[in-house]
Amino acid sequence: MDTKQQLSRQTLFLHWVVAFGMIAMLASGVYMDEAEVFALYPWHKSFGVLLLAFILWRIYWRVKNGWLEPVREYKPLEITLSKVVHWVLIVGTVLMPISGMMMSGLGGHGIPFFGLELLARNPDPQNPQEVIALNATLAGLGKTLHGLGGNLIILAVVLHIAGALKHHFIDKDATLKRMTGQRLSDND
Ligand code: HEM
Ligand code: HEM
Repeated sequence: MDTKQQLSRQTLFLHWVVAFGMIAMLASGVYMDEAEVFALYPWHKSFGVLLLAFILWRIYWRVKNGWLEPVREYKPLEITLSKVVHWVLIVGTVLMPISGMMMSGLGGHGIPFFGLELLARNPDPQNPQEVIALNATLAGLGKTLHGLGGNLIILAVVLHIAGALKHHFIDKDATLKRMTGQRLSDND
């Protein structure tokens, strides 16, 4: 159980796996897309599907446990801002893998999972180098959401990290300390 003084191992484990997983996925997505490194695509897709399992586990855990109690009192504006950013991050973690799977799977490109095929490629019989979409409209929607969602989450992650650093270095409170697993003392 999470308490105000100390966060549970499950909260800490899930926050950091999803945090570093998402940062790696955002970076690899932007890089492979900009530099057209097609060899990275199957890895990006496989790790994205794997990360979705941790993301869903994390959401189940958050719903079961409720949101974390702040380490101390904050101004209403700060509370609202942090709530908005946390919601964007939580929703974004689900939206990104789902939209990616829609784009790749329904676009006919297939969804690989570390050498296995979660969904097979759908080659064009006339021209097997090309693929035929299973549902071009939904695949297009997935592509738009994946692109826009990626940019929105990058912005939210930057704000989130800036907020965590502000708590630590400017407010000098124990928000970041608690997220690294330390128990709060009476002075925190
Ligand atoms: C180096 C990067 C990161 C740092 C230093 C960091 C730090 C923190 C800290 C200190 C909290 C606790 C806030 C509180 O007590 O209210 C927190 C909560 C949270 N963080 Fe991060 N974070 C990072 C990356 C991320 C990323 C990449 C995501 C998701 C994409 C994320 C999602 C969340 C969410 C949703 C919460 C709310 C509490 C929860 O659901 O566990 N964080 N983070
Ligand atoms: C788990 C979280 C994921 C994150 C954070 C993420 C992030 C990104 C980002 C930021 C881009 C660059 C988008 C752009 O600049 O337009 C991208 C591209 C891409 N992602 Fe993901 N992704 C995730 C999961 C997935 C999954 C599960 C799949 C497929 C099964 C996938 C398939 C792709 C593909 C095919 C591209 C290239 C798009 C193109 O060529 O236009 N992604 N991803």
